[in-house]
Amino acid sequence: VNRTDIAVTIVGLGRVGSDVARLLMGRRGFKVVGVQSRNPNLIGRPLAEAVGFRKGKSVRITRDLLTALESHPDVVVIATTSFMAEVETDIRTCIRHGCNVICTAEELAFPWAIDRAAAERLDRFARRHGVTVLGAGANPGFITDALVLTLAGAAWNVESIQTRRVVTLARFSRTVLKRLGVGYTRRDFTTGIRQERIFGHIGFPESFGIVAKSLGKSISQVRKSYEPLMAEEEMAATNLTVRPGQTAGFIQRSEAIVKGKVWFAAEFVGHINPPAAGYDLEDRINIHGTPELSIVVAPGFDPQFTSAGVVANSITRVLDAPPGLVTVADLRPATPLPTDLGPRTSP
Ligand SMILES: NC(=O)c1ccc[n+]([C@@H]2O[C@H](COP(=O)([O-])OP(=O)(O)OC[C@H]3O[C@@H](n4cnc5c(N)ncnc54)[C@H](OP(=O)(O)O)[C@@H]3O)[C@@H](O)[C@H]2O)c1
Repeated sequence: VNRTDIAVTIVGLGRVGSDVARLLMGRRGFKVVGVQSRNPNLIGRPLAEAVGFRKGKSVRITRDLLTALESHPDVVVIATTSFMAEVETDIRTCIRHGCNVICTAEELAFPWAIDRAAAERLDRFARRHGVTVLGAGANPGFITDALVLTLAGAAWNVESIQTRRVVTLARFSRTVLKRLGVGYTRRDFTTGIRQERIFGHIGFPESFGIVAKSLGKSISQVRKSYEPLMAEEEMAATNLTVRPGQTAGFIQRSEAIVKGKVWFAAEFVGHINPPAAGYDLEDRINIHGTPELSIVVAPGFDPQFTSAGVVANSITRVLDAPPGLVTVADLRPATPLPTDLGPRTSP
């Protein structure tokens, strides 16, 4: 690949896809050569205009994945859904066209935890076509796995791990908010969780899997619990208004059990407006062992900046990686290259 002109196609032009597009259009050495969306309001429009990047010419948005692959991208960024079963067909199409893939589906960060046989098939398929497939994002893909492993790199011994994230959910899409569990009565939230229509934050089992594999641990069970956080007054997210008596967020606790004990405990506090509900924005990692290690990132990683940043910063490391299905723990750190963000600087 000519590193002065890396060709990228983007599949899915929601929050992350748009942010990655804008970021790459402002970055020397990258060219967005194709964009696929199923949104009828976007089809046929120039990408730059659609995502609010008003410099220069840009490719037009297409409904059809094959059209978006016609310009032979080196890497395809897939930012559509969270579930392996829903992205597998698109990933296979990209692989068949000789493209490397970075996918934001949380389950793709460590698909062996979801369906080992399917993950192994995908790995073989990617190897056969000489391309690399990576699942990456903020969490999983960076905060609760790559960063945990970086911190653990200074330890003599790791006995257990604790993480805590407090995240503003206000700028997620309506689809993502409803899937997370925002905007429901307490009863509908509880029923939705039980019936697996509401998922809370997806991706902790994947982060646990990445860290466990790297540290040589075998997880016997992953436990989860959810506590809804109710709105006392009306609260507006960008794409959803929460009324009093509806969920404005939730606390989710996930635990990975190794040899009968909690080995990795992850707490996630997600809310439309965490400070208003009494939660300070932060990301915290505690590694218990020898020595005790702890880091706090305050006011915490912004979910939109971080997700698009990790995805865009992963393009060159994916091009450098051996073929196959890989995780962020298999690759060197993600690295940003100089970026001119143009007139609009926030995601
Ligand atoms: N690993 C991580 O840390 C991380 C970080 C960020 C995001 N994610 C995940 O990545 C996905 C995208 O995030 P986002 O914030 O960009 O979500 P979003 O704003 O809802 O955008 C997703 C876009 O993909 C489209 N789409 C959904 N399902 C599709 C399908 N089966 N085929 C084609 N297009 C489809 C949607 O179209 P419609 O509007 O028509 O539904 C929407 O335009 C989400 O599932 C999110 O949970 C993971």
